[in-house]
Amino acid sequence: YLPQEIIKLKRNGGKLPEAAIQQFVTGLTDNSFSEGQTAALAMAIYLNGMATEETVALTRAMRDSGAVLNWQGKLNGPVVDKHSTGGVGDKVSLMLAPMIAACGGYVPMIAGRGLGHTGGTVDKLETIPGYSCTQPLATIQREVARLGCVIVGQSGELAPADRRLYLIRDVTATVESIPLITASILSKKLAAGLDVLTMDVKIGSGAIMKNIDDASALAQSIVNTAKGAGVPTQALLTDMNECLGSTAGNVLEVLETLDYLTGKYREPRLHQVTLELGASMLQLAGLFADKASAVAALEHSLTSGKAAEIFAKMVAAMGGPADLLEKPQLYLGKAPVVQDIVAPHAGYLAASDTTAVGMAVVRLGGGRAHPAQVIDPVVGFSDVQALGSKVAAGDVLARVHAASVEAAAKASAEYLAALSFSDNAVSLQPIVHKVI
Ligand code: URA
Repeated sequence: YLPQEIIKLKRNGGKLPEAAIQQFVTGLTDNSFSEGQTAALAMAIYLNGMATEETVALTRAMRDSGAVLNWQGKLNGPVVDKHSTGGVGDKVSLMLAPMIAACGGYVPMIAGRGLGHTGGTVDKLETIPGYSCTQPLATIQREVARLGCVIVGQSGELAPADRRLYLIRDVTATVESIPLITASILSKKLAAGLDVLTMDVKIGSGAIMKNIDDASALAQSIVNTAKGAGVPTQALLTDMNECLGSTAGNVLEVLETLDYLTGKYREPRLHQVTLELGASMLQLAGLFADKASAVAALEHSLTSGKAAEIFAKMVAAMGGPADLLEKPQLYLGKAPVVQDIVAPHAGYLAASDTTAVGMAVVRLGGGRAHPAQVIDPVVGFSDVQALGSKVAAGDVLARVHAASVEAAAKASAEYLAALSFSDNAVSLQPIVHKVI
């Protein structure tokens, strides 16, 4: 096929034969599909969807665009991972990988960059000087066996097709597509050679899927496709109607992660989501028989300092400083302008347009407007007050971190516009909406 024939078939609502899908994925990897052709096909898939067989073929082809890790006989425990469909302030992967490693699991986590309004684990880790998310396979295999976890990104060797498609989707409004998300996530996860997977499918105003029906359909697509590929998978549909934890922005989220791991501060919703996902991973992996013992082990990985120690070793092994946990301020930059965002009047924080908050971070420079853009690591929001909070006029709702006074003013206005207030106490969404 010519690229334009494949695009036209999907544009007209047709079903792509496996050979066409294979050719598209080859074209992504060897650049014989141009950026424009890739964007056009992504938009056609976004608009017309894919049948299950097409999604499965796309996932397989993207997985096989690079190497597939094989852990047989190399580790003393199960290979387990989690992945989120993406949110604002969702830094759970950063804490959970070392926590699971401390509990006996092995986590070869292949993470992504920011996508649309959502943040990305790779962008967060790359704010640490020296930390490289593109590692040779031999390093990944050696360090997973030694430390229990490694967080890296796609590379020329691992799911390279996803790396290119992901960058193009990020800036062409083609993120919110069930087949594209399924293939993107699972190509990375299956390339990592997992035994089991827990999916965090976000729902709400800051999620890719805004309502329970769409989120359930996405979760079902991922669970079915992963199971079909031989990886038992559980999906937790968790709340993303507000920023998770108290920060959104790359360096700010790494700092929150360090506070979490070292016990300085654990924002309660963030902690609960982390424990729920971690318990699912440990139980699926067969390491713990029930939720209570899995949660106790996760708590112990924190209080014993073991998870923090593994995180520190992982940072050093990936090229970062050995004393990041002791001296974060020495290594992680700070925005030139930091300002309070204050409540214009008294009330309860009732709702947040969290996608708008994520886009405000992107506009501050914390995300990309085109694939090659270099992001500004230090910008974003910190000290984010949770929904349900009662505030008086003038109380701090969050702090904005920006490159200039003008950018700070603009982002503060966007942040305030995204919030709604109520005169009455509000009832909050459950943290876990559903398990699939
Ligand atoms: N996370 C991914 O890795 N890919 C997507 O498409 C969405 C979330």
